[in-house]
Amino acid sequence: VPLEETSLPLFFGWFLLPGIQDKVRCTSMDFLKTLDTLEAFKKHLPDFTVEAEKEVDLEQYFQANGALHCTTKFCDYGKAEGSKEYADKSAVKELYGSAFELSLSALFVTPRTVGARVSLSEDQLTLWPADAEKEAVPLVPAAATLPVGSRAHITLGCAEGVEPQQTGFDLLEILALQQEGQEGELVEEMELGSLAYYGKGRWLLSLREPVSAQACFSSLYG
Ligand code: A2P
Repeated sequence: VPLEETSLPLFFGWFLLPGIQDKVRCTSMDFLKTLDTLEAFKKHLPDFTVEAEKEVDLEQYFQANGALHCTTKFCDYGKAEGSKEYADKSAVKELYGSAFELSLSALFVTPRTVGARVSLSEDQLTLWPADAEKEAVPLVPAAATLPVGSRAHITLGCAEGVEPQQTGFDLLEILALQQEGQEGELVEEMELGSLAYYGKGRWLLSLREPVSAQACFSSLYG
């Protein structure tokens, strides 16, 4: 009996190859290390953490989670709505096990999560569930009007007690602000790119050179 008929995975997604995982982790660590030393970050610290601390060590604040990946469809072993339909899509079947180059265009940090924005190509969008952004609407109402694929991200770390799925919501919130015409407060030109502040502890670093990350489209049974 084929595996796909017996059970569905925890999730489908692009899994970064080991070499590039190390590179992305290092880039993210460098960013966190620099961010928490910036005067602008210290100035907005009360937005970032409710605790009356004077400093935060962002590398300690976020816990890394597992192998780096960009989730396409969270199936929860078939319990999540639309899982079977997704697994049956022709693109999913045809491209399962194929290699891709993901483009990481930005890094973002909020009091809850740190992640990388993934800018999907036309080909990659064939693997993206049509309702991924709509699913977020109860939490991020403006997600309804964002382009398909806006939620695509890699979770790099979560604050204590925060679920990884929060990373996608945090990204959508920032993109919604951008769409409304809020540029964010340009804080600094860093070596990696320009850093902007979007209020409420939300920071976005638009990478000068997007990071190209080799990844395999596959699934995790967990
Ligand atoms: P993300 O894709 O933001 O990193 P968990 O460890 O909680 O079971 O999650 C496994 C993966 O599936 C994580 O990568 C997580 O978040 C993603 N995920 C978990 N729950 C959901 C959900 N309800 N919707 C979309 N993605 C989810």
